[in-house]
Amino acid sequence: MTDATATTEAASTVRAETDRAMRSLGRDIAALTRAGDVLILSGPLGAGKTTFTQGLGAGLGVRGSITSPTFVISRIHPSLVGGPALVHVDAYRLGGPDEIDDIDLDMTLPESVTVVEWGEDVAEGLSDDRLEIRIERHPDDTRTVHLRPVGARWDGVELPGGADRTAGNGEG
Ligand SMILES: Nc1ncnc2c1ncn2[C@@H]1O[C@H](COP(=O)(O)OP(=O)(O)OP(=O)(O)O)[C@@H](O)[C@H]1O
Ligand SMILES: [Mg+2]
Repeated sequence: MTDATATTEAASTVRAETDRAMRSLGRDIAALTRAGDVLILSGPLGAGKTTFTQGLGAGLGVRGSITSPTFVISRIHPSLVGGPALVHVDAYRLGGPDEIDDIDLDMTLPESVTVVEWGEDVAEGLSDDRLEIRIERHPDDTRTVHLRPVGARWDGVELPGGADRTAGNGEG
């Protein structure tokens, strides 16, 4: 009888047939983001989390190439277009929520779009409002991307794949 905010009902699913389609989805999401947003990426090794983030960075117009850093946990990509920076975090080696606190993401969070690879069960504490992005990898190398908005920030935001849809099929 209390506030049963049905965030799951706003969840959507997008198919990404290729790495290019995955980048294109990242660009589409970039267009919806603003400073202060937190995106949590999950999915198995090689799922396409970094590939998605590359599209996100391209869409935001940030500096520097987005890679899977081996030793760096967090990297700041400043905007080239006067928008928010992209803070790209790889939580793979982090032990849990306590360790993510240690890297002081709160400092950059308000002026940035913060995206956390391997962020599930680690990065939720960063913000009550977040977009959870879970990538499912299929044997034929296609991917299904599950988008789950959490919190009031995403109310009324129309996410890609609201109805079943295939992201970019190589055109454009
Ligand atoms: N449909 C697809 N979507 C995304 N990536 C794809 C797709 N098909 C093939 N790929 C390839 O799969 C690889 C995905 O690697 P990527 O580094 O993005 O994954 P990741 O989830 O970040 O991995 P890690 O767990 O190591 O961080 C890339 O080489 C990409 O080109
Ligand atoms: Mg990666």
